Amino acid sequence: MTFCPEEEFIREDCISCGTCAEVCPSHAIQMLDGYPAFNRDLCIGCGHCGVFCPANSFGLEPLPGNAATEQQYRSLLEIRRSIRYYSDKVPSEDEISALTSVLSQSPTGVNQQGITVRVVKGPDAVGRLVKPVQKMLKILHFTGLLHIIGKITGMSDYIGRLRGGEDMIFRGAPVVLFFFVPRRNPTGRTDGVVAATAVMYQAVSMGMGTLWNGVAERIYPFVGSWHTARTSKTRLTAVLCVGYPALQPKWKAPPRIYKVF
Ligand SMILES: Cc1cc2nc3c(=O)[nH]c(=O)nc-3n(C[C@H](O)[C@H](O)[C@H](O)COP(=O)(O)O)c2cc1C
Repeated sequence: MTFCPEEEFIREDCISCGTCAEVCPSHAIQMLDGYPAFNRDLCIGCGHCGVFCPANSFGLEPLPGNAATEQQYRSLLEIRRSIRYYSDKVPSEDEISALTSVLSQSPTGVNQQGITVRVVKGPDAVGRLVKPVQKMLKILHFTGLLHIIGKITGMSDYIGRLRGGEDMIFRGAPVVLFFFVPRRNPTGRTDGVVAATAVMYQAVSMGMGTLWNGVAERIYPFVGSWHTARTSKTRLTAVLCVGYPALQPKWKAPPRIYKVF
């Protein structure tokens, strides 16, 4: 699965220019007798050697000819809005595959570490996710702890509605994506958040909308369940709801505050 330059290298195509060795960020390539020699222990599988090779002696696919313009990129940013009202249309398997396929282009701190995404699809599945949280809240309510938690967090109203059966977490999203990164991970949670952001804009480009789910990301590590199966040695890093919006934004959102030094 991971790009291995030593295995992909086509000796007959090599023009011995040394570019691969020059651009390798981890010094995993040395030129020996006019050809690259690879050190697998140092290689991070980033593919730079192949990307910059003038003779394509690593057999990579050609780049797309038409890069997005600045205006297209800005439009994508501007039309994105968090979605809390979804239409009944459940994204198809093909649409979900198209969404998650951008993970192969998402940057990570170490290219070989990989992101794991659990796709939870359909209103029934989301209902099954919400129930354990509501059960937990009921227990906390009977012990009196919920009242105290509500007071401390100032979220009594929110918690009360959630306990009462309202889906305040996923808001009826037809698809929920749980992003996991390896537990031992030099760049921490960041890789998963970057990956989820890439998927978010892919969704917008396909006419869908998303909702980040900070609440689920905090709560769900405590609610081990069927949706976290096959994710051992990883940790949850981002949760993104995806679906077709029931309401379309009509105007640009007011600008956000930021500082540039
Ligand atoms: C990391 C992150 C976590 C978020 N968590 C939640 C959440 O748990 N529930 C929710 O309703 N909105 C959540 N949001 C959405 C923000 O509240 C939303 O982005 C904000 O209302 C601005 O609206 P906009 O996305 O339409 O610009 C989250 C956003 C981010 C970036």
